[in-house]
Amino acid sequence: MTIIDTIKDEHVRLMSRLALLKREIDIWTRNGEPDYELLYLLAQYFMKFPDEIHHKKEDRIYEALIGAGVLETEYLSRLKTEHEHMAAQAAQFAEHFDDLLAHHASPKWAMIDKVKKFIAMQELHMADEESQFLPLAQKELSKKRLSEINEAVQNELITDAARASFRLLAGIDAEIDNHVAKKN
Ligand SMILES: [Fe+2]
Ligand SMILES: [Fe+2]
Repeated sequence: MTIIDTIKDEHVRLMSRLALLKREIDIWTRNGEPDYELLYLLAQYFMKFPDEIHHKKEDRIYEALIGAGVLETEYLSRLKTEHEHMAAQAAQFAEHFDDLLAHHASPKWAMIDKVKKFIAMQELHMADEESQFLPLAQKELSKKRLSEINEAVQNELITDAARASFRLLAGIDAEIDNHVAKKN
């Protein structure tokens, strides 16, 4: 399994978390009562996973492509900017949820609007990566280069801070799964 396969698997996982988020936001939009706790957990998830784990891999591939002499197109630099943008959006989203749960005052429509934009951006971004970025990496980078990148990422993720972050994320993931299991 190459780092490209890992990224694709992570996209599948991210899409399923986005689907959960979409479902709760749809309920909320129709004036139903969403599962606030699940929304909170999803906010935590989106604040951590893409930025701390997923984008780390993609950013290294991006750098390797440029290093291999692939032209830095507008499209490629946009992907990187979107990573930063999505991390900021997710942090905002989580902050709003802290407020929402603490004060029970809901800036409802502004929040729904933000989350919908976040979902749309994530979906477009991933579709772009699947159709352009990952095929380009597959074509331009050798198996050896891809496994070197994988190793570099793994080394980056074995620090104490990264381990603590993994544990936290595993806890969030398990709680999300529990919520979903209770509903079904
Ligand atoms: Fe990305
Ligand atoms: Fe991605």
